[in-house]
Amino acid sequence: MSKGLKIVTIGGGSSYTPELIEGFIKRYESLPIRELWLVDIEAGKEKLEIVGDLAKRMVKKAGLPIEVHLTLDRRKALRDADFVTTQFRVGLLAARAKDERIPLKYDVIGQETNGPGGLLKGLRTIPVILGIVKDMEELCPDAWLINFTNPAGMVTEAVLRHSNWTKIVGLCNVPIGIRMGIAKLLEVEPERVFVDFAGLNHMVFGLQVYLDGNDVTNEVIEKMCEPKSGMTMKNIADIGWEPEFLKALGAIPCPYHRYYYKTDQMLANEKEDAATNGTRAEVVQKLEEELFELYKDPDLEIKPPQLEKRGGAYYSDAACSLIESMYNDRRDIQPVNTINNGAIASIPNESAVEVNCVITKEGPKPVAVGDLPVATRGLVQQIKSFERVAAEAAVTGDYNTALLAMTINPLVPSDKVAKEILDEMLEAHKEHLPQFFGDAVLA
Ligand code: G6P
Repeated sequence: MSKGLKIVTIGGGSSYTPELIEGFIKRYESLPIRELWLVDIEAGKEKLEIVGDLAKRMVKKAGLPIEVHLTLDRRKALRDADFVTTQFRVGLLAARAKDERIPLKYDVIGQETNGPGGLLKGLRTIPVILGIVKDMEELCPDAWLINFTNPAGMVTEAVLRHSNWTKIVGLCNVPIGIRMGIAKLLEVEPERVFVDFAGLNHMVFGLQVYLDGNDVTNEVIEKMCEPKSGMTMKNIADIGWEPEFLKALGAIPCPYHRYYYKTDQMLANEKEDAATNGTRAEVVQKLEEELFELYKDPDLEIKPPQLEKRGGAYYSDAACSLIESMYNDRRDIQPVNTINNGAIASIPNESAVEVNCVITKEGPKPVAVGDLPVATRGLVQQIKSFERVAAEAAVTGDYNTALLAMTINPLVPSDKVAKEILDEMLEAHKEHLPQFFGDAVLA
């Protein structure tokens, strides 16, 4: 056996970590991990210890020689890593709750990765990722960064455009969620379903769907026209599509497309939630408390099924399959976020896209798509422009650039409203935006 791998997970105290551990345990034969380092910050120390202890129990139960290390010292962990995964949330769930609530006051969608919330999350997150990449250049220059931190598309774009680091793959569970959903609709094993994915993160389309190699796109669309088709994620309301629209689109939208094609209904739904059960972050805060109570149980040695109430279903499958394929140079096809390199004609070559790729030791090689269908192209380009301008604002801390990003986002109605929301949100997130407020501390 080879010497084994060193994997570092930044944001290791996340409630999702047991998913990842389960995935690594399942794949140990082909992914022999020697050291797994879970890293967090001071504010996440307690969570890191709870989840880290569970991780150790899970590994012990599996009888595997994986060393699990817990640390608040990121640089110590990064030295000589082979893969670094990132799954952190700057400002924790409290910051997400602000991203969800503040825009609602202005009758604008409040969401973690879309609209104003996505912008502010990007502004908080991108400087931290660029700091990690700097450390990686010095401490583990041969490692791959597998980024799961949202907004994953914007983060990948920022690293590609604003650092010298090229070994980044952005990863999301939306494509695998769509594939699983389709398998359920067709009542078949997921392995028989193949989807041609193309677009951007949280803006990806299934252009064609195959069952055992036969094109079943129209059949799937037909089934998706049912009012509660189940083709969504736990964090996005299953509001049905207009059948005629879906049929004319001729492609499978992702659950997040509802924010763009059903904006008024989604906004009404969010407002109702905010007034009753709470926004998604507020719901998740309660779920997390329950999860951490379970994780504390010294007799718990497996990933508890309650974790499935979170939106990140299949996350470990996506992450572990990717790392396993890269490590073993499998050259299989998986949808990830990577540099476009001409795969999607209407997106700049240097930009990040979410697209099917051949997964190799040297990284993902995108499969050429040609152009996107005309009806989807404009929105995808607009979101790409938004991501680019947002990344620039995150790097420069320039107010006008941030306002430009906010205004060109299709969910924001005007420059005036954009300015009002931006001003309120910058102020609300001040402590995590040192590039806009010189004296704040980066958490
Ligand atoms: C989906 C998205 C993820 C996101 C998650 C939120 O799965 O693809 O990017 O992080 O939902 O789930 P949560 O349970 O935190 O609302």
